[in-house]
Amino acid sequence: MSKEKTTFTCSECGGSAPKWLGKCPHCSAWNTLTETVSEAVGGRNRYSAAAFSGLNMAQAVAPLSAIEAMDVARTPSGIGELDRVLGGGVVEGGVVLIGGDPGIGKSTLLLQALDALQRAGLPTLYVTGEESGAQVALRSRRLGLDHSQVNVLAEIQLEKILATMEATQPAVAVIDSIQTVYSDQLTSAPGSVAQVRECAAHLTRAAKASGVAVVLVGHVTKEGALAGPRVLEHMVDTVLYFEGDTHSSFRLVRAIKNRFGAVNEIGVFAMTERGLKGVTNPSAIFLSQHSEPVPGSCVLVTLEGTRPLLVEIQALVDGGGPSPRRLSVGLDRDRLAMLLAVLHRHAGVACADQDVFVNAVGGVRISEPAADLAVMLAITSSLRGRALPKGFIAFGEVGLAGEVRPAPRGQERLKEAAKLGFTVAVVPKANAPRQPIEGLEIHPVERIEEAMEVVRGLA
Ligand code: TYD
Ligand code: MG
Repeated sequence: MSKEKTTFTCSECGGSAPKWLGKCPHCSAWNTLTETVSEAVGGRNRYSAAAFSGLNMAQAVAPLSAIEAMDVARTPSGIGELDRVLGGGVVEGGVVLIGGDPGIGKSTLLLQALDALQRAGLPTLYVTGEESGAQVALRSRRLGLDHSQVNVLAEIQLEKILATMEATQPAVAVIDSIQTVYSDQLTSAPGSVAQVRECAAHLTRAAKASGVAVVLVGHVTKEGALAGPRVLEHMVDTVLYFEGDTHSSFRLVRAIKNRFGAVNEIGVFAMTERGLKGVTNPSAIFLSQHSEPVPGSCVLVTLEGTRPLLVEIQALVDGGGPSPRRLSVGLDRDRLAMLLAVLHRHAGVACADQDVFVNAVGGVRISEPAADLAVMLAITSSLRGRALPKGFIAFGEVGLAGEVRPAPRGQERLKEAAKLGFTVAVVPKANAPRQPIEGLEIHPVERIEEAMEVVRGLA
């Protein structure tokens, strides 16, 4: 490794200072300086060092059309649901960041994936900074991987990890987790923003230079974002998040960024006694089993990646007082406030002095606006104490003017609902199919008040 020195860089303006200061000398922002390593080349930072290594000569450029477009080579991990979110498999030199709550199954999934890859003949390396080799071995026995040939390294020092990667030449390396890795070059504590960022940058460079596919495991803060700087997400090729309620057995892995595949694709797993098992037909797992319809519940057909999913949306409107609460689990809270305003203004449904709670069953996170109609119907149902009819589903975005906008790929959603035995649907007019769908009574609506009207007629 070349000689390196540390400087302090402002996260606001990118300016640097030779020592830590409370206030950035360039942009005067407070508390924004974090420690970084720069290669000491004539006092310039590492980025300009790269430019000067070419002796300051202009380089040849080529028009895009003259550059051969090569598809990246992917190696399927052998775990179908994981390959689905990765866009087909692991990519040579690709860096994947995988985040999620503690205990959700990150280490389990990655150990299973490494074992499958190793069995397929790829050399693998599992670097554990949180557990001892013995603990990893115990997990592998539990997973039934008794003769696993996955190489394990219990190490947290970056320089040693990089040297081991160079010496053992794995095709895929997992770093579990990036927050435990530290570099001797920095004086700040392991797990600090500066450490996490520098270590991730070094590992990313190593991946690109050597062609090793690197998977970084990242912790998630209470707010649900990856701990450490957001810059980690920019640095890597793919960002995956584990979702799900640790109390239920289902787990979702969602791609929120993927340079090599589609985003918002999800992989669905069930946590079993022997590790995570893929769920290939997940459409009905987020429904709770009521024998009779209950007030405040509406089934939404959402589209996650390429597959429709049926998710029960629950609402409770109750009590309240001068400062009522609005709480949402799995749905956006700002959007909830907006939907309540639209309900009031356009459908005459007032919850201004009531507490409103909404929940997407099963710990799934729903971000698409097509959930609006189901959320509003669940809220109204709870407020009035009247259940929606048996076998009822809804989807559609609702705008501020009270209009119901179409959702992408409505036909597919309706067909999936019909397949699972749902019988009544309220959907945006533009999503109404030209041909009837067997067993499904479809009510197309253009406005929220119209949807309320239809529902009143059904109950
Ligand atoms: P783990 O992969 O250690 O989570 P993370 O690395 O994200 O922190 O998952 C641990 C949880 O999974 C733990 O609560 C036990 C459970 N588990 C099973 O239910 N079955 C299994 O086969 C394994 C290995 C773990
Ligand atoms: Mg773990």
